[in-house]
Amino acid sequence: MILVLIGPPGAGKGTQAKRLEDLRGLVQLSTGDMLRAAVAAGTELGRQAGDLMEHGQLVPDDLVIGLIAERLDANKDAKGFILDGFPRTIGQAEALDRLLETRGAQVDRTVVIDVDDDALVVRITGRFTCATCGEGYHDLFKKPKEEGTCDKCGGTEFKRRPDDTEEVVRSRLKAYHAQTEPLVGYYGGQDKVRTVNGMADIEAVQKEIDLALDAA
Ligand code: AP5
Ligand code: MG
Ligand code: ZN
Repeated sequence: MILVLIGPPGAGKGTQAKRLEDLRGLVQLSTGDMLRAAVAAGTELGRQAGDLMEHGQLVPDDLVIGLIAERLDANKDAKGFILDGFPRTIGQAEALDRLLETRGAQVDRTVVIDVDDDALVVRITGRFTCATCGEGYHDLFKKPKEEGTCDKCGGTEFKRRPDDTEEVVRSRLKAYHAQTEPLVGYYGGQDKVRTVNGMADIEAVQKEIDLALDAA
């Protein structure tokens, strides 16, 4: 199964992708995570992407398409993939169709996580993750059970993303509406889109996604 998760910054793509990995044995491919790893490692790719990311702009299509092609090939035995934050432009969606076609696969389902812009700013500015295992948390909506300790791995260090300021979130939202939202029409034309209400709590969104995936 190839599942594409579409949603604005803070919609819950990463949160739901992690849960789907655990529940369905699919592999999450997050271009945002891959680019952040490249920035942290100081590679040439990271150098090209870092400045754009800090300003909330998309990085060039060819960079992320190359990353996805590598990961598809590195995980040949996977049961399927959850694409989190990719594709993000019509050009990326067309390139993905070509990549999958040569590998005998196709996008099976697209889930759009719908959230109001105002709620997203609260979600993003309250977000933090475990520095050891990457588990995601939120100051208000998902605190560790024991303050200062990761539920999943017991780690005690947490980090926040440099692009999670209110100002940068506004540019990321702009990029989403201008460049990524048209994908809903692209996949809708192929009858692959289900929209879920991302304003509900994390569990409820997960249930709605499950229903969307199991529906014929
Ligand atoms: P990327 O890393 O993909 O960021 P994004 O799309 O802006 O989305 P986020 O990761 O911020 O949000 P999310 O939907 O994963 O939400 P989360 O689950 O964390 O991209 C970053 C940058 O990289 C881009 O700006 C661009 O520069 C570049 N890039 C990446 N991919 C690219 C591509 N394909 N092409 C070009 N450039 C690319 O949830 C957010 C918070 O809310 C968390 O704290 C969570 O606990 C909480 N939360 C989640 N769900 C709920 C809920 N239902 N109720 C309450 N709280 C919730
Ligand atoms: Mg994410
Ligand atoms: Zn952890």
